[in-house]
Amino acid sequence: MTTSTVSNEAILGIEGERQVPFYAKRGIALVRGEGAYLWDAGGRRYLDAMSNYGVAVLGHADPEFAAALSDQLATLTTGHQSFGNDQRAELLDARASVLPAGLDRSFLSNSGAEAIEAALKMARAATGRPKVVAAKRGYHGRTLGALSATAEPKYRTPFEPLPIPVTHVPFGDVAALEAAVDGETAAVILEPVQGEAGIYPAPDDYLAAVRAACDRAGALLIADEVQSGFRTGVPFACAGAGVTPDILCTAKALANGFPIGLTTTTAAVSGAMPAGAHGSTFGGNPLACRAAVVTLGALRERGLYERSAHLGQRIVTEIEGRNYPKVRAVRGRGLMIGIDLKERVTPTLRGLQDHGVLALAAGNLTLRLLPPLIWDDTQVDELLAAMDWVLG
Ligand SMILES: Cc1ncc(COP(=O)(O)O)c(C=O)c1O
Repeated sequence: MTTSTVSNEAILGIEGERQVPFYAKRGIALVRGEGAYLWDAGGRRYLDAMSNYGVAVLGHADPEFAAALSDQLATLTTGHQSFGNDQRAELLDARASVLPAGLDRSFLSNSGAEAIEAALKMARAATGRPKVVAAKRGYHGRTLGALSATAEPKYRTPFEPLPIPVTHVPFGDVAALEAAVDGETAAVILEPVQGEAGIYPAPDDYLAAVRAACDRAGALLIADEVQSGFRTGVPFACAGAGVTPDILCTAKALANGFPIGLTTTTAAVSGAMPAGAHGSTFGGNPLACRAAVVTLGALRERGLYERSAHLGQRIVTEIEGRNYPKVRAVRGRGLMIGIDLKERVTPTLRGLQDHGVLALAAGNLTLRLLPPLIWDDTQVDELLAAMDWVLG
């Protein structure tokens, strides 16, 4: 069935009247997905080039994923972390195959912001220090602690004063970071590839210099891989850069759309955590853990890291080669791609949607692509055809 019994207009009307208006709506209601495609309530098909901000790495309604979750729904959905669970234990084992060596201890939650919140609390408790250093244009989520580290004034201003004292330094500037990190610094938190800022990979050697500055000051390094996790051609971009953080946060792609957050740290940091000091009712539930186990297996067995690296390179090369007059620059790491425009991005985003492609903005001037990792050359061809229409 490709049409819904309820129209786009009816659905958007209800949401418009009854939701707190935090979101600018994009004019359609998505009611179904299959593989790399989504359908709106009017039965129109769209190529998904955003995967819900980097979540649906296996695409939509993946049969193996759906069967595993359905089996788990019929087995056990919820269970507190004060009891053991087979699926949780399996995930805690499976995660070792993707995480840098030395990051052995995990806390499970339900979202990216929760993963960051736990990391900030761990850093404060382990060091006994109050301050955090983060990057300008960095994004770490909207809960009050994560928001303290998020740079964008539009997100921060309505909620100030924020609880954590954070110094924001220019991303990639080693001297500025070294000047900001001192004996009061609990942690430096960075995205190895800045996502919301417009897809900016850390410059070569930057993360290693940050690691060294943290070590000199006795501060912890937190890698926020909530967006970059699993889609840059390797499981984690910080490991790709040869750097092991003290705490690594991931979420989004980890369970292919089932809500999850994972904060992983060293035995030393974990050993400094007071028992009972943090927790989550839903965190580590069997359904989320099963979803993550299936996703991690599929990413590896279907060769999706290699595919992301190959397809991402093809998209960047093809867009550069087309010399679209409206495009200023293209950047990418795997299937995390930012395309800077010479004009505001909204009309381009709207044009792509009208041509059946759902993409994202990052700021006012950057078009962002975070497609499912199951794309193949067919979807890249479709994307490029739509881009030729809209940007050519
Ligand atoms: C780098 C990064 N950190 C944290 C978050 C927050 O994740 P969530 O929206 O799941 O709370 C995001 C979300 O976009 C993100 O991109």
